[in-house]
Amino acid sequence: MKRDFLTLRELKLEELNNLLNRAVELKGGKDASLCPLIGKSIGLLFEKASTRTRISFQIGVYQLGAQAIYLNPQEIQFGRGETIEDTARVFSRYMDGVVIRTFGHEKIEKFAKNAAIPVINGLTDLHHPCQALADLMTIKEKKGKLQGVVLAYIGDGNNVVNSLIEAASMTGISLRIACPVRYEPDEGIYKKALSEGSDVKILRSPEEAAKGADVLYTDVWVSMGQEEEAAKRKKIFKDYQLNKHILSFAKPDAVVMHCLPAHRGEEITDEAMDSPRSVVFDQAENRLHTQKALLELLVK
Ligand code: CP
Ligand code: NVA
Repeated sequence: MKRDFLTLRELKLEELNNLLNRAVELKGGKDASLCPLIGKSIGLLFEKASTRTRISFQIGVYQLGAQAIYLNPQEIQFGRGETIEDTARVFSRYMDGVVIRTFGHEKIEKFAKNAAIPVINGLTDLHHPCQALADLMTIKEKKGKLQGVVLAYIGDGNNVVNSLIEAASMTGISLRIACPVRYEPDEGIYKKALSEGSDVKILRSPEEAAKGADVLYTDVWVSMGQEEEAAKRKKIFKDYQLNKHILSFAKPDAVVMHCLPAHRGEEITDEAMDSPRSVVFDQAENRLHTQKALLELLVK
């Protein structure tokens, strides 16, 4: 039975912990020459721009012995109206797995329902679970643990923080989210975390969220697909910036995280991003290791 990875919750906690440990092994060079996916093909279907996800998957697939096929929707019949269902059925006859980046989450769900191969979510408007895997690996790498770590997220209640809520809920991270009214994370995802007794709070004050935090995290104010709202959003989010002032509320050894790409001078200052506390490029690197561990788990 094929397994998909559309949200973080598709992994059991034990699988998540094993995956994070495996990613550490892979980062250390263990089994570098084994090529467990030799002869396989993984599609990369991206309806939105990507630097990290696209490149880290393409390279990770190659390092595991398989080939990646980058598919621009405009260059395949999907972009000319071939249905999601038919595209999923055809991909399943050739490929051993597919990574998809798209807009509405229901699109990837429909694709997965009609595919006989594992479908991996490379970002939708609602979730970014591959990012959350790398975030967890990075937090564990820097703080030595996940349970009890205080993570402050400052900014838009978007796909990245939705997946962070699931990550926090599964691992016992205490998550403080500071966001403006009407820009909260997804209500269903938040309520599920609360119903499980998770320590996840939505606040208005970035200072309050940052107080005593071990990790400070932010993401862009304008996500892909929201370009028309850019001017309005930049006004609404102007006080939700990760900067020196916010850093002064966190623990002295707090680290700075960002999924990237960063809009320097908007959600994060150069000072915060380039400070010795910043781990954003380790975080970006960890995309590669966690996704390789994910591919080893899902692709048969
Ligand atoms: N963090 C992330 O997913 O980056 P890309 O949009 O460059 O893939
Ligand atoms: N929230 C951002 C994340 C980019 C990796 C977006 O969806 O554009």
